[in-house]
Amino acid sequence: MHVLGIETSCDETSAAVLSGSGEDASLASLVILSQDVHAVFGGVVPEIASRAHLTAIVPVVERALADARLNQSALEAVAVTNGPGLVGALLVGVSFAKAFAFTLGVPVIGVHHMEGHLFATALEERDAVPPFTALLVSGGHTLLLDVAAWGEYRLLGRTRDDAAGEAFDKVAKLLGLPYPGGPAIEREASADVAENRANAYRFARPMLRRDQRPGDADYYDVSFSGLKTAVLNAVRAVDASGPIDPTARAAIARAFQDALIETLVEKTARAVRQFGRSRVVLGGGVAGNRTLVEAMRARVAPLGAAVFAPSSRLATDNAAMIARAGLFHLERGERSGLDLNAFASIPIPGLAD
Ligand code: KG4
Ligand code: ZN
Repeated sequence: MHVLGIETSCDETSAAVLSGSGEDASLASLVILSQDVHAVFGGVVPEIASRAHLTAIVPVVERALADARLNQSALEAVAVTNGPGLVGALLVGVSFAKAFAFTLGVPVIGVHHMEGHLFATALEERDAVPPFTALLVSGGHTLLLDVAAWGEYRLLGRTRDDAAGEAFDKVAKLLGLPYPGGPAIEREASADVAENRANAYRFARPMLRRDQRPGDADYYDVSFSGLKTAVLNAVRAVDASGPIDPTARAAIARAFQDALIETLVEKTARAVRQFGRSRVVLGGGVAGNRTLVEAMRARVAPLGAAVFAPSSRLATDNAAMIARAGLFHLERGERSGLDLNAFASIPIPGLAD
């Protein structure tokens, strides 16, 4: 089976072709066009994103088909992200996918963006399959899940305010670093100056206390807005006027990243222990953070769990993961109608509290 995947939920226009079935499906092509224009504004401007998707979608799909050496007539289904995300951006992908599937006479399937992130690592690592504990950390979401099987998700915890990626982006702004903030902060935090001043700052670990017990509302949840305020206060204390001193900037970036990572790692370790899982799967843009992945490995290895994280190409938004999640639903006989719509917010299918 050849499935075309389409992803336009935010600021990447992406198309991919996936060939094969189930766990044996392999990626025939993946094209990701990042809309660099948003860097000028320090964040994604929705209308600009929609218009950029509209310009890019046809050439991106043509490129994906050419790279896969496939004629469009060989496609057997189209999978498209239909939420959550920016509605105007999603509508471009959904409208294109429906029209293309209709023309080809093949089914279309709507895919939940976060379920896509859950499948990303399985495209590269054969063992990144359920049952596992999952930590999804992106620009819009922070979800801790227990995954008993594909399509059987239990929500353990989520952020009460900012998503992990959003915290990286906002803190980067406070430190005068470019957008997207995650990679910039990771670079700052691993610089030699940050290493030398690793203990110059220490921020409280948000929502992480030893006396929390399973069943407590905050046992698995996280919250990053207080951490952001702590960074703001630290920046103001250094210099209220001009650009921040580079040494202090690196040390603050390091302390912020340490606090955020330790919180995510500890909450994930709690889930591994409670559910007795031997695998942890990471997904979402923040899973491209090597410091997070290494800290997670070190923390859960003594619990007997292996950690699987996507390569940076599959960690951030891409259509390969959408094609893979779509294939799972198609193989279960699911189809969307040509009335498929786009939603800013939508529950993950198969998710139980
Ligand atoms: O999954 P994604 O590409 O898009 C959403 O679905 O939101 O995630 C984007 C987020 C951004 O907030 C970006 O700053 C963050 O992922 N990110 C990182 C890293 N690379 C991307 N955060 C921390 N460390 C990184 N290396
Ligand atoms: Zn995403």
